[in-house]
Amino acid sequence: MSELRDAALAVRENAHAPYSGFKVGAALRGASGAVYRGCNVENVAYPEGTCAEAGAIAAMVAAGETSFTEAYVVAGSPEPVPPCGGCRQKLAEFGAGSAPVTLATTGGAEQATTVAALLPGAFDAGHMA
Ligand code: THU
Repeated sequence: MSELRDAALAVRENAHAPYSGFKVGAALRGASGAVYRGCNVENVAYPEGTCAEAGAIAAMVAAGETSFTEAYVVAGSPEPVPPCGGCRQKLAEFGAGSAPVTLATTGGAEQATTVAALLPGAFDAGHMA
């Protein structure tokens, strides 16, 4: 997991967060083993900003992969950063429910969870059958 932590910490440095001052980094391990990174990218039109998790997912999909086996999210928060609701849904689109997700602080605290635990009762394609 330290490879993912290192990747998430490094990309967090590139976050564009002049409005919140809250930088977030995310790293995903694709099914191929490749690591994809994303940071939050804010906008003066606040709702147009994007989260770190969304950036990492976009990088993975752009590279031709559509599933990840583990995820790591880090922020300079006092407690491990919980992904927003939208990011929980985005993670559920590309990760199995059992996929481990580590929420972390830059200081080294970590909280282990899974895609399913982050989004109980998730809406999925089966609900449209
Ligand atoms: N943010 C993320 O990028 N991921 C999270 O899991 C939580 C929140 C970003 C969005 C916004 O740029 C800033 O953190 C403050 O909400």
